[in-house]
Amino acid sequence: MALNQFQIVYFEATRRCNLRCPSCMTGSNDPRKVRRRVRSELTLAEIRDRVLIPARRVGVHTVGWSGGEFLLRKDALDLLRLTVEMDLGCSVLSNGKALTRQRLEQIKAVTRGRAKIIVGLNALDEENRWSRDSDSDRSLQVLKDCAELELGRHVVITIGKYNTESFDKTIDYIVKNNISYNRSPLVARGSGAQCFDQLGFDRHDLEKYFHPALRRNPHGYVSYTPFFLSPELHTEASGGIRNNTVPENPAIGCWAGSWLAINAEGDVSVCPVLLDVLNGGNVRDFPIDELVERSALFADITDRSRLKGRCGRCRYQYTCGGCRAMAYFHTGDYLGEDPTCFFDPVDRSTVSEYEEETNRVFRKYLLVARAAGVYKPPTDLRRASAVRPLEKETA
Ligand SMILES: C[S@@+](CC[C@H](N)C(=O)[O-])C[C@H]1O[C@@H](n2cnc3c(N)ncnc32)[C@H](O)[C@@H]1O
Ligand code: SF4
Ligand code: SF4
Repeated sequence: MALNQFQIVYFEATRRCNLRCPSCMTGSNDPRKVRRRVRSELTLAEIRDRVLIPARRVGVHTVGWSGGEFLLRKDALDLLRLTVEMDLGCSVLSNGKALTRQRLEQIKAVTRGRAKIIVGLNALDEENRWSRDSDSDRSLQVLKDCAELELGRHVVITIGKYNTESFDKTIDYIVKNNISYNRSPLVARGSGAQCFDQLGFDRHDLEKYFHPALRRNPHGYVSYTPFFLSPELHTEASGGIRNNTVPENPAIGCWAGSWLAINAEGDVSVCPVLLDVLNGGNVRDFPIDELVERSALFADITDRSRLKGRCGRCRYQYTCGGCRAMAYFHTGDYLGEDPTCFFDPVDRSTVSEYEEETNRVFRKYLLVARAAGVYKPPTDLRRASAVRPLEKETA
């Protein structure tokens, strides 16, 4: 098996928060639970020694800081400074409340302008306040300030039954402003467990409302499922780079197996929305590189030949993989088929009517991904490997 390569660490460094979103997956809307767990938060030294330093050995090049509200950590700026000093890319996922202009300037200064700011935005109207305990105006202002300060920006849209109708309008606004985005499914993690049955989207919502907008726009190709990309095209574009059977360069479809997720107390999982429910081990027991090598969960998730049901007989088993979180939260089996998918393949010869469109837009996405530093065309890879021996000789 190839050595596991994970490009991004998504790090929920605290459960504390200054908002109370009703379906919060980290339970940050429940002050009693937060108080109980806050004493077990990883310290800066633990984060450096057990996560950041060993993470580089498994290929990590970027750390996505999140929470709770990451900026409520007293050492948030120190962590950002450290990330950049270690020559790692960094992003901050925030609800925007603490992201004043002054705070953005501080972030820019300590990261030498290299931080990307990510805000959650579920809708442009009052639906945002309903699902996120915050008016969309706050997120929109942060996005404008970032543009003026020349900080990178990205939007996360958590999708569920509450934003089926408004999704198109939200995407149009984001695309018009040239911002990248990804969809994240509402899940039954933390306080989400109480509303998942009522608010989680189903295959009809996905087919009718979310998927048409997602497949149309290259800025949203970061990660979504079902992803009808021809496996041959990905192999050609990536130069054959993969993490066992998970596509890399660029990562697409379901990202489980492409990145590492860590919660505030050091538990590691294969996706942010699966933290606290699927545990691959704790970094206090093993540094993160050793932990992923030992973990049965990581071995399973990076082997897509083990997928079951429709995902197991599908032409897109490799390029899509089906949302592993949807499989888990609906069936209890993280290798099961993704029940929210609306594609019914007979076998690997069944081609989706959307493959051609997906291939065409994916080619445009490669330009976006290259500019964002998450994709290298095979010509660049060949050039890099051609100069490497010379570098070694002269070192
Ligand atoms: C837990 S928050 C932490 C960062 C920051 N406080 C924020 O809200 O953006 C990270 C992301 O998780 C999303 N989220 C919250 N609860 C969720 C749930 N039950 N299922 C899926 N995503 C959820 C939020 O919308 C946000 O985009
Ligand atoms: S979703 Fe984010 S902003 Fe809302 S309560 Fe949870 S951590 Fe706080
Ligand atoms: S059946 Fe599974 S792998 Fe195939 S497109 Fe649907 S979600 Fe993706």
